[in-house]
Amino acid sequence: MRHFLRDDDLSPAEQREVLELALAMKAEPYARKPLAGPQTVAVLFDKSSTRTRVSFAVGIADLGGNPLVMDTGTTQIGRGEPIADTARVLGRMTSAVVWRTYAQAGLEDMAAHAGVPVVNALSDDFHPCQILADWLTVLEHKGTLAGLTVAYLGDGANNMGHSYVLGGATAGMHVRVGAPSGYQPDPAIVADAQRVAATTGGSVVITDDPAEALRDADVVITDTWVSMGQEDEKAERLALFSGYSITTEAMGLARPDAVVLHCLPAYRGLEIAADVIDGPQSVVWDEAENRLHAQKAVLAWLLAKAS
Ligand code: CP
Ligand code: NVA
Repeated sequence: MRHFLRDDDLSPAEQREVLELALAMKAEPYARKPLAGPQTVAVLFDKSSTRTRVSFAVGIADLGGNPLVMDTGTTQIGRGEPIADTARVLGRMTSAVVWRTYAQAGLEDMAAHAGVPVVNALSDDFHPCQILADWLTVLEHKGTLAGLTVAYLGDGANNMGHSYVLGGATAGMHVRVGAPSGYQPDPAIVADAQRVAATTGGSVVITDDPAEALRDADVVITDTWVSMGQEDEKAERLALFSGYSITTEAMGLARPDAVVLHCLPAYRGLEIAADVIDGPQSVVWDEAENRLHAQKAVLAWLLAKAS
């Protein structure tokens, strides 16, 4: 059974296959119905969501299926029923499980016991669906992925930082993370990414110098400095990351034709200036829409592998 719990669960060739399927699905949104029946997909949320919730609900319906969207606080998971028991029950009644949660270990537990494909809809460690949407967006705007330089600035140790490192290496991109010491990606994940990069021609550079990360970048990315679950650390984080903001001046270091991504929600005036996110280089609305197409593709791809 194949799952999508972290970016390197797809090989470089498989990532390309999913992105090509996403482009085809975007061109013909209602042409493929792998969930006809309708089969049900459980979509569980331990954390807030707008884009992920809507894109999975709409995408599952587009694929001919029935989305069962639940906040886990209203389920027995919220009262402590073991993940493994929940997984066994969901697997008996649904065709796939999509889960936004805290610990990556919980997703692994779900995948080990569900008997159906499990998709990570964001954990503390990774947000792999977002990276598929991001690379779909870059592909549309740049025509290619391999060989492009991607600069990600801000919290390098959060889910987005980790997923850019892994998913970028998988795509053969040169990923540069600019993040302060103590907030750089987990060295074990960087090592995994470097092993992948050695096979794709990509590379990974981690630096605390935002200018080094940004210089001549084709793609400039940031994310919130305070991820869900880190609200207590807000004040220290805002102070610590203040030099890593994507401003017009910072954009001057990237290539003039660089595109700007942000997974959203964005905090204008903190990690990104309003005139950048709302400016001509920003492709964030395409990126948000592409969640739908990318996730339909990865779900259809996993279901095909499972059958
Ligand atoms: N980018 C993203 O995952 O957005 P939501 O938190 O709104 O789902
Ligand atoms: N890093 C952010 C991403 C939100 C989509 C968070 O985890 O809150």
